[in-house]
Amino acid sequence: MAKDFTQMEDSNRSSNPSIHDVSDPARRLWLRGSGVAALGGLLGPVSLLQGCAAGLGGGSALGFKSVPASTADALVLPPGYSAQVLAPWGEPVGAAAGMPPFKWDASNSAAEQALQMGMHHDGLHLYPLPPGAGGVQRGLLVMNHEYTDDGLLHPGGQSPRTAEKVAKSQAAHGISVIEVQQQGGSGSNSGNNSGGWQMVRPSRYARRITATTPCAVGGPAAGHPMMKTSADPTGRRVLGTLNNCASGQTPWGTYLSGEENWAGYFVASDQPTAHERRWGIRKTSWYRWQEHDPRFDTVRHPNEPNRFGWVAEVDPMDPSSTPVKRTALGRAAHEGAWVAVTQGGRAVVYSGEDARFEYIYKFVSRDRIAPAGNGKTAAQANTTLLDHGTLYVARFDGDGRGRWLPLVHGQGPLTAAAGFADQGEVVIKARQASDALGATKMDRPEWLAIDERSGFVYCTLTNNSRRGAAGEPGVDAANPRANNTMGHIIRWKEDGDFDGTAFSWNHLLLAGDPANARPEAQGNILGDAFGSPDTIAFDRQGRLWIGTDVSTSAIGRGDMARLGNNQLLACDTASGEVRRFMVGPVGCELTGAAWAPDGRTLFVNIQHPGETPSDRTDPHQPRRFSNWPDFNPSGRPRSATVAIQKDDGGVIGT
Ligand code: FEO
Ligand code: CA
Ligand code: CA
Repeated sequence: MAKDFTQMEDSNRSSNPSIHDVSDPARRLWLRGSGVAALGGLLGPVSLLQGCAAGLGGGSALGFKSVPASTADALVLPPGYSAQVLAPWGEPVGAAAGMPPFKWDASNSAAEQALQMGMHHDGLHLYPLPPGAGGVQRGLLVMNHEYTDDGLLHPGGQSPRTAEKVAKSQAAHGISVIEVQQQGGSGSNSGNNSGGWQMVRPSRYARRITATTPCAVGGPAAGHPMMKTSADPTGRRVLGTLNNCASGQTPWGTYLSGEENWAGYFVASDQPTAHERRWGIRKTSWYRWQEHDPRFDTVRHPNEPNRFGWVAEVDPMDPSSTPVKRTALGRAAHEGAWVAVTQGGRAVVYSGEDARFEYIYKFVSRDRIAPAGNGKTAAQANTTLLDHGTLYVARFDGDGRGRWLPLVHGQGPLTAAAGFADQGEVVIKARQASDALGATKMDRPEWLAIDERSGFVYCTLTNNSRRGAAGEPGVDAANPRANNTMGHIIRWKEDGDFDGTAFSWNHLLLAGDPANARPEAQGNILGDAFGSPDTIAFDRQGRLWIGTDVSTSAIGRGDMARLGNNQLLACDTASGEVRRFMVGPVGCELTGAAWAPDGRTLFVNIQHPGETPSDRTDPHQPRRFSNWPDFNPSGRPRSATVAIQKDDGGVIGT
């Protein structure tokens, strides 16, 4: 999410110990040292690679020419690369129930929107299908639709708020499953699958999941009293998933979708409860859904918010499957969820919550991942894998070590006397439980990525301008800059296997622009400057791709003045070198990164092109800032997926 809403979540008033209380005094000295130069010397990537496999052999892993920063309303790519637009907002997904064409004036109905691509494409993954005739690559692209800009979504904008507009907004949220295939095949000139991609429509896989699609609940909060509502006395069946941001792809073939800023959809009374305050629920909502859907009014339906903030699991290969909210992974403003596998075959799911001063979590499954067999796909053989296991929250200590603190009922402070009746209440109140355990308050954890070659787990901490402000937590070793407008990337390696309960950590880099006057905004990047890292993902050759999400209100201003539009960069983690690969159109953010099986196509989402810096789009000026990708003189900007290929058919990034 790019908008720096004034209501941006900042609700952690817990008094759990600052890292200053536990850090080594000698380490604190260098943190107070001579600004970023000192940080760079001690935290820079080159000195931190002991135990980190270079993976890519000698020389730079980055084989493309860096592109300059850009403010153009266009995609900018290195020489020799091309991009193709796929599946913009409003494009019919290809469901059997109908394929209503997009109307350029945004006059599609809510029912039509429910059969079309949602708005604001976010985390995406490709699920390969068996190759088609001639060896063409096929697959399912599965992606989130994080939020809506109701100034663009309706011909007249958000006001007046009608039931139809609320329904359309709800239908434009959620998840899309679409089938895609490549043209050309093995007979192409290069000998590779170098042709462009297209949607396959109709497709038996095509599907929309929206903010009203029935979802099941798994894990310790299923059926819990705090999950029951008048509409669902079982506490096991929730309508919809929303504010789906980043996503993870499991080894058993499912899609994990994080419910991020769900609090902004609810309204509380004039005096929110302590539980509501801790989760950032306020007297006003961003979308005013409660005016026509009373379940978003916590006065009337106090438990409804407890049914959001989970990681939802979807089996994209089974269009009749029910999404399941996996409560064992904890409730949070979940950015997304990413899976590592232990040598013993257990799943370890890392996640964080993108809110100021919130936490990083991991879940270790009790059971081993089951193989496909006996007539079941791997997804069908693991339908309860994520319902049983142990949830932990991270504490980053000042000596470069860290601990995973168990969020287990009955252990430590997590007792009934302290307000945690059972494990269900622990996961529903994961923030409060993490406060009690003294977890480390982070600078907005976004995506995580697991480097299978080195065992390092990476996490982007996108920014936190409130770090060090009056009344807010100060800097600490893991979040070392006050007024952290630029963000950083932290990484750690578990002791032993991924299920270890202790780890060693350091920073890959502190983002910034060396041309900034403010030392703490200069960063220590070895290569091209950027700010606000969000998406990160490893390609098969071990390059780390980094997408940025500088808020639209900050682009081109202050510390970001010289960085241009949001961009995608690649990092050779062995050397620390960063190169800018792509710059997006005006007002967009770059989200998701997924590759075709042969590594010769990179799919990336361009989210919210043309976003208005201060508010929703003025419906009378839909093309004021951007008209990407269609440039239709009667149209409007649309989020879309782009398929990037090398003109010579080579592997992306080489
Ligand atoms: Fe939806 Fe944290 O980005
Ligand atoms: Ca972001
Ligand atoms: Ca994000």
